[in-house]
Amino acid sequence: MIGNLNHVAIAVPDLEAAVATYRDTLGANVGAPQDEPDHGVTVVFITLPNTKVELLYPLGENSPIKSFLEKNPSGGIHHICYEVEDIEAARDKMLASGARVLGDIKTGAHGKPVIFLHPKDFTGTLVELEQI
Ligand code: CO
Repeated sequence: MIGNLNHVAIAVPDLEAAVATYRDTLGANVGAPQDEPDHGVTVVFITLPNTKVELLYPLGENSPIKSFLEKNPSGGIHHICYEVEDIEAARDKMLASGARVLGDIKTGAHGKPVIFLHPKDFTGTLVELEQI
């Protein structure tokens, strides 16, 4: 059912340092920081030839990545995102399989419909599914 890897999201405690690492050390194509108040994050998109990396930095007091950074002070992989063709069909399949879907279908950072799946049901990794 899942298609391409859309992105890997990495929560970072220092956005400028992370940008410098990806831009200067790794030589990646790094975009400008974008505030996403609806998602409680500032995001930097890194475009690779076959996928994207998203650096996530907390924005606001209720940022969903704040507790992640408290547990992982140096940062770390927060979630991975796979593409699906039909988000409602994907959600229904997940629920029918007994997997926990976190919340409802939302609009993700790219303006596309997404769902999030519980890490305990997916080998310890928070999974995002995005309709392409
Ligand atoms: Co994402």
